[in-house]
Amino acid sequence: MLPWTLLGRAPIPGSAERLVLWQRGDEFSIRISGYVSELMNSRVHGSEEALATEACALLRGAASARVLVGGLGMGFTLAAALRTLGDAAQVTVAELVPEVVAWNQGPLGEAAGRPLEDGRVSVQIRDVAELIRAAQASYDAVLLDVDNGPQGMTHTENHWLYTPAGLAAARRALRPGGVLAVWSATREEAFTRRLTAAGYAVQVQTVRARTGADGRGRGARHTIWLARV
Ligand SMILES: C[S@@+](CC[C@H](N)C(=O)[O-])C[C@H]1O[C@@H](n2cnc3c(N)ncnc32)[C@H](O)[C@@H]1O
Repeated sequence: MLPWTLLGRAPIPGSAERLVLWQRGDEFSIRISGYVSELMNSRVHGSEEALATEACALLRGAASARVLVGGLGMGFTLAAALRTLGDAAQVTVAELVPEVVAWNQGPLGEAAGRPLEDGRVSVQIRDVAELIRAAQASYDAVLLDVDNGPQGMTHTENHWLYTPAGLAAARRALRPGGVLAVWSATREEAFTRRLTAAGYAVQVQTVRARTGADGRGRGARHTIWLARV
């Protein structure tokens, strides 16, 4: 078996931990120092893609939609959004860790088909919360996969995104009919209730981590909230 090769380490702003990128053949793994489990593996991206495809499928004007993706990770959510949206769409990606953007501009970019090179994409090396706070009816969809879900893991300040204040700000950032889509490793009924209390019409989906050769879902069960304004 091929050995894993260390490609890079990156400090996480506001955290004592680091993101660490490994490669083994055409497989990539991003881990958080101090945690045993992976944050992401390039062979497992079914639910990251579903976050985008399920949210964009709800948009009436998907051909020319404005979409905010936070964060970049390995680019699978971004690539799926670009496949679903039309030529006139504009996608802003907010990524907290500059090295993650650099990794996607390097060898890691192959994993999701180099979505950063798509002319519809602009990248901001910023906390997605800043973009949400600054926006007023700016986006048709906000796709959030910045952590392990509402319980967090990489960046404790992400907690705000899932609070009533964060959900109200996301609602202001969205246009009428817009969708806030949130990825999580676990299902959390309290978060569903918080979304409903914040005035969203909420669907909760369970999505498998990957698709087997027979086309059936395999691996862990992840949760996606689709919350419409
Ligand atoms: C689990 S990965 C995202 C995976 C991505 N959905 C994909 O398809 O590859 C989480 C990413 O969010 C970034 N991140 C964490 N907190 C963030 C924040 N507040 N704003 C922007 N990016 C953030 C992390 O650095 C990491 O790149």
